[in-house]
Amino acid sequence: MRSHQAIVIFLLSICATGAAYGQAAPGNPLKGKSLFQERCSVCHAISMDGSAQGPNLSGVVGRPSAAVQGFSYTRELRDAKLIWNEATLDKYLANPGGLVPGTMMAVAVPDADERRSLIAFLRTVQGPAIQPARTNAATTPQNSNDPEDWRNSKPG
Ligand code: HEC
Repeated sequence: MRSHQAIVIFLLSICATGAAYGQAAPGNPLKGKSLFQERCSVCHAISMDGSAQGPNLSGVVGRPSAAVQGFSYTRELRDAKLIWNEATLDKYLANPGGLVPGTMMAVAVPDADERRSLIAFLRTVQGPAIQPARTNAATTPQNSNDPEDWRNSKPG
């Protein structure tokens, strides 16, 4: 009987959590993380070894637009001179070309709730935005002797 009670309490607590997540209120960073992996990570890295199609988004909340060294942004985004915060990110994600006509970022997130969650997740991703090299891994020479190449720097 005791274990039966425990199961009922466990199920009730799952329902309560589900209801809390169902509310529109603030963005849910966990939901944002899976949205990011589904819809953004194909182009955007948040660590050194992600995709290089788009700029690295580590620390994007609070930084100026077009600020990642080593990424060739469009002139339009470079000239936009925005600060990425909740409001500007929300507008850009809702309709990138509406906020920055001519931007190469073509993916829109029409659902306001999903945008809030994505921004809540991006807020949690801090640290320097190190842009992965924009080369095709298949054609990158594996044994390059270029001392400038970070792949050749030996730890220690
Ligand atoms: C098909 C590739 C692609 C996908 C998918 C994509 N982006 Fe982008 N994104 C880009 C490119 C390219 C740029 C640079 C745009 C420019 O230079 O005009 C960009 C720029 C951005 C910027 C501005 C960054 C800066 O440094 O100024 C943000 C923020 C952003 N994207 C967020 C997202 C989010 C969030 C998602 C997922 C919902 C997403 N992007 C999906 C290609 C993509």
